[in-house]
Amino acid sequence: MKFFLDSAILGEIETVYAAGVCDGITMNPSLVKKAVDEMKSRGEKASLENYIKRALTIAKGTPVSLEVTELEAKGMVKQGKTLYKKFNPTAKNVYIKIPVNPQFEGEKGKEFDGVIAIKELRKAKIPVNCTLIFTPEQALAAAKAGANFVSPFAGRIDDLLRKNSGVEFDKTDYFPAGGIVEEDEQKSDNGIVSGVDLVAQTVQIFRNYGIKTEVLAASMRNARQVRECALAGADIATMDFGTFKEIFSHKLTMDGMKKFTQDTPEEFKKLV
Ligand code: G3P
Repeated sequence: MKFFLDSAILGEIETVYAAGVCDGITMNPSLVKKAVDEMKSRGEKASLENYIKRALTIAKGTPVSLEVTELEAKGMVKQGKTLYKKFNPTAKNVYIKIPVNPQFEGEKGKEFDGVIAIKELRKAKIPVNCTLIFTPEQALAAAKAGANFVSPFAGRIDDLLRKNSGVEFDKTDYFPAGGIVEEDEQKSDNGIVSGVDLVAQTVQIFRNYGIKTEVLAASMRNARQVRECALAGADIATMDFGTFKEIFSHKLTMDGMKKFTQDTPEEFKKLV
């Protein structure tokens, strides 16, 4: 499974690429806002265009997803093409992120705009990451439209399941793959018992039909959730910097290091 960094913060991007542990980057408007706010708080004046180009250069050879902000098919296609034209020449690694459906709650008549945009961009040979996926059938529809990646948001499904069942949780929590049995019909889970289950069902459906679109498990909350997505067969997991570091950490590794360091004989130290 490939590890992507879900961040637009240059310092974080530099760190994971310098360590050679990152296989791609995903950004979205909220993550870009975080990076812009951080830049402003440091009094930095670099333009956002140059900032994104620096990220693309660091990530050269691996995909970087940039998300559109337009809200209907025509606008998303136009913006996707503009973003691609402006940024892809930097390192030839831009993927355009398109929501599976750009509707707001209560809006009607735009159900298919996401897939229309995906098809148009793919016709122009622009790689697409389809985002905001919350059901396996949305993932299937995006794959049928030609998306290169689909991004099921596992963590946000867990947030919803916990909220519906009144379980207290914080940002680092997730539902284990098996979910929690919910007897109250009102709190229906739509047949998806956890975020990992959403990823697993998507992987299974793609396997059933030999679909080549890669499953990019997104909205990861912790290392164990990444592991469960790997067990489910996800091609990629995108995670924040904290989860990235958590993957490499274990208390017993630290305890072992302390003991090995204490035990090292002076004779050995002289050898090296
Ligand atoms: O990749 C999607 C991700 O950025 C959403 O994560 O933590 O806002 O649910 P989160």
